[in-house]
Amino acid sequence: MARKKLIAGNWKMNCLLAEGIDLAKNVAGGVKAMGKAQCEFLVCPPFTLLSSVKKALRGAKVALGAQDCHMAENGAHTGDISPVMLKDLGCTYVILGHSERRADHGESDELICQKAEAAHKAELKAVICIGETLAQREAGQAVEVCRKQILGSVPADSTANNTVIAYEPVWAIGTGKVPTTDDVEEVHAAVRKVLAQKLGKATANKMRILYGGSVKPSNAKELLSLPDVDGALIGGASLKAEDFVAIAKNSGC
Ligand code: PGA
Repeated sequence: MARKKLIAGNWKMNCLLAEGIDLAKNVAGGVKAMGKAQCEFLVCPPFTLLSSVKKALRGAKVALGAQDCHMAENGAHTGDISPVMLKDLGCTYVILGHSERRADHGESDELICQKAEAAHKAELKAVICIGETLAQREAGQAVEVCRKQILGSVPADSTANNTVIAYEPVWAIGTGKVPTTDDVEEVHAAVRKVLAQKLGKATANKMRILYGGSVKPSNAKELLSLPDVDGALIGGASLKAEDFVAIAKNSGC
C-alpha cells in the first residue's frame, strides 16, 4: 500500500496572532485551490496560536499540530502543556524531539519516548524527529546516530497510524544546506530497516518517514520523489503560504 505523503509546516517560535491567522488562512486557501490533493497537510504553530489557527483552518483539509508536549496528563508542571490539552484544542499531531528541543532543552531519547507514549495515549500522532550533527555526519556516523535515536525515542506501541518519523540532519536545518539525494535515501532506508527490527516489517513499511532541513519549492521534487521519503517537515518555507503550497505541488501532491 502506498504511503500518503505528509507535508508538515513547523512554524517554530514565529508569528503574532494576526500574522498566524493570516498565514493559516492563506495555507487553507492554497490547499483548497489544489483541489483533490494526494497528500495530507499539517501546520504546527506555537501554542499561543493553536486555537486561532484551528478556527482559521475551518473547512480546510489541513491538520493542526503542536511542537512539543509534556508526558503527564496534568499536574504541577509550570509552563508545560499536556497532550490531552492539545487534543482538547483540536490538535491531531505533535512534533516531538526536534533537534532544537534536544539541544536547547537537553531532551533525551528516553524523555522523547515517554512524551510519544503520552501523545499516543491522548490519541495524538507523534512526529518523532531524529538526525545527526555535522560532526557526526563528517565522522561517518549519520546512520548509527539515527539508529540509536530511533531505538531510544520511538515507543514500542508505535504504529503507522500514531507515529511519523522526521529525519532532519541538524546541519541542514535553516542553513540552506541539503544532503545529496543519495545520502537522504541512505538514511531513510536505514531508518526503515531499524523500524522493521523494532516494530515489525508491516508497520515499518506503512510508517511515514519525512525529510526535513532546508526544504523549499526548488528542491522539493528531487527530495520527495525518493522511494523512502514520505513527505517533508518544513521550517522556514512554511512561514510563506505560497512556498508551503508550492512544495506540495512540486512534490506531486
Ligand atoms: P528548515 O527547518 O526548513 O527551516 O530548515 C526544518 C525544521 O527544523 O523542521
